Amino acid sequence: MTKNRLRLGVNIDHVATVRNARGGAWPDPVRAAHLAVKAGADGITAHLREDRRHIRDTDMQRLATELAVPLNFEMAATAEMIALAERFKPHAACLVPEKREERTTEGGLDVVGQEAALAPAIAKLAAAGCRVSLFIEADAAPIRAAVRLGAPVVELHTGTWCHAVADGERARADAELRRLAEGAALAASLGLEVHAGHGLDYDTARELARVPAFVEFNIGHFLIGEAIFVGLEQAIARMRAAMDEGRAAK
Ligand code: PXP
Repeated sequence: MTKNRLRLGVNIDHVATVRNARGGAWPDPVRAAHLAVKAGADGITAHLREDRRHIRDTDMQRLATELAVPLNFEMAATAEMIALAERFKPHAACLVPEKREERTTEGGLDVVGQEAALAPAIAKLAAAGCRVSLFIEADAAPIRAAVRLGAPVVELHTGTWCHAVADGERARADAELRRLAEGAALAASLGLEVHAGHGLDYDTARELARVPAFVEFNIGHFLIGEAIFVGLEQAIARMRAAMDEGRAAK
């Protein structure tokens, strides 16, 4: 395995979205997590939202108990979620902004505006043994705030870039990719471990993998969608190959 191999965290939230559409037990997101690991996922990510629209407490409990690979618990920095992280003790806790009415996480965490409130949350999660990650925009201000807060990891929000690519807006996409690359380099130079996620597909993951400062991508919606057509194992294998191609080309 090469030293700078990118890790792939597979987000299984939307297996639970499909399950919840019918209210039964199928498809089981924990089964998907085991399959993802078999197919080469380096870790599993799940977002326990305040409204429990996909992942539920029992899913998170089972993931925490059953998985041998790192579990990344995406969560809002609320007292309820911190108490659950203290109970489940996942490998990592990724703090994300959360709005009930949004379809998905729409922007990075306002680390600068919420610095005072985030400090005790980060301290509690670290005391519970979680590696704290902050999901932020690739800008200098939140990156520097993450350093001040003592978070070891930042995950840069790739959603705006992916939207620009999908919409064929070349100039905006180029600018967004530059912002991500510069943000990743700054964060790494300040000693942070740098992850990326949101909206990535094979092509954007391959492209972003060329940026050497990234060490992990967290990818969900696209992979679960692709799994409908080619199966989850095949989708993960293709994503793994795309990331390796990008990294080799850097
Ligand atoms: N990383 C974070 C912090 C997220 O909030 C999400 C979405 O839940 C993802 C990665 C995965 O995004 P997507 O499902 O678009 O691949």
